[in-house]
Amino acid sequence: MPKKQKNKLRYGFIGAGGIAGAHLRDLVRRDDVELVAMADISEATMHRHQKQFGIDGMYGSWTEMLAKEDLHAVSVCTPNKLHEQPTIDALNAGCHVLCEKPLAHSAAAGERMLSAAKANERKLVIGFQYRYHARTQFLRQAFDAGQFGNILYARVRALRRRGIPNWGVFGRKELQGGGPLIDIGVHALEMTHYAMGSPKPTSASADMFTYLGNKPSDRIESMWKGWDHETYTVEDLAVGRIRFANGAVAHIEAAFAIHGKNEWNFELMGDAGGASWDPPQIYRDEHGHMVNKEPGWLSNEDMFKRKMNNFVEHCLYDKPTLAPGEDGLAVQRMLDALYESAEGGGREVGI
Ligand SMILES: NC(=O)c1ccc[n+]([C@@H]2O[C@H](COP(=O)([O-])OP(=O)(O)OC[C@H]3O[C@@H](n4cnc5c(N)ncnc54)[C@H](O)[C@@H]3O)[C@@H](O)[C@H]2O)c1
Repeated sequence: MPKKQKNKLRYGFIGAGGIAGAHLRDLVRRDDVELVAMADISEATMHRHQKQFGIDGMYGSWTEMLAKEDLHAVSVCTPNKLHEQPTIDALNAGCHVLCEKPLAHSAAAGERMLSAAKANERKLVIGFQYRYHARTQFLRQAFDAGQFGNILYARVRALRRRGIPNWGVFGRKELQGGGPLIDIGVHALEMTHYAMGSPKPTSASADMFTYLGNKPSDRIESMWKGWDHETYTVEDLAVGRIRFANGAVAHIEAAFAIHGKNEWNFELMGDAGGASWDPPQIYRDEHGHMVNKEPGWLSNEDMFKRKMNNFVEHCLYDKPTLAPGEDGLAVQRMLDALYESAEGGGREVGI
């Protein structure tokens, strides 16, 4: 049976690495959150957070933590392949869950996670902080106001010239499900999809290339040296196309390593207007002229902070969330189809 909601959110962590630290930084500021426990296979990692944030509970396994601690909410911050089981276990233990992106390593896993949330009447939220970014809100609100008309085309880019992670397991397909597309492309894709009004994806095709990450880093210039090229089994560059039921098409490019410039952006082109995220601009024809409209000011409140505050307020006070698990599943279906297409030589795959 789900636990009764209390006024202070007793909070736990499954996976206490890099992104868990970012969650903690914002949670520790709130007096309606009690940081109770964390579970990680690395004691050293947990000790660092214990020292910094004063969390007493430390466990080598999440099942033990869930059995011993009376938790109301949990952040799941493990590698992608380990999102499904801890999320389902935490939901079954009566916790609300903030699962880091991507929702899972496959849409089938995501569906099981959402079923567990429904069965336990608990909340499952996906860690999509970019939709809390003021620029994304600016464009989504313009979409809602009809500024773009029907969106025909979206161009999505998450490109690092040279940024292959040298920590964690980001180069290991069996643990992550893929490389830059599922790791950073997911952010650019989810904010684009959100700004487009979340149309239903119907098919996708993609091609992917690996040519630098599988080579020793001492011979390649990079932001982060020393990645493990021997276990590197993911793409360096993914290029894909997604079709939507409303006729719109999106092109996505995501890379850990390219001979090209860094880009983090999306652009929308509709039959009544267009937009770009960076710079935040809206393109329209008004009074017989082509005009570029930009906000005079946008809040610079940190999107991670907004994401964490929203999750806590969603759990404690039933405030609506901008990032329900269902949206994570929609994006996961696109990611699955893009990877399946690339594995099949680039043919179009139905979603
Ligand atoms: N929203 C964002 O901007 C953002 C940023 C970074 C990472 N992430 C996501 O968060 C997840 C973790 O990424 P990270 O950068 O924190 O990686 P990380 O490698 O820093 O941390 C992962 C942690 O999981 C732990 N772990 C591994 N197996 C475990 C197990 N069986 N039980 C308990 N703990 C286990 C590791 O010891 C490690 O401490 C990934 O899914 C990633 O996509 C999201």
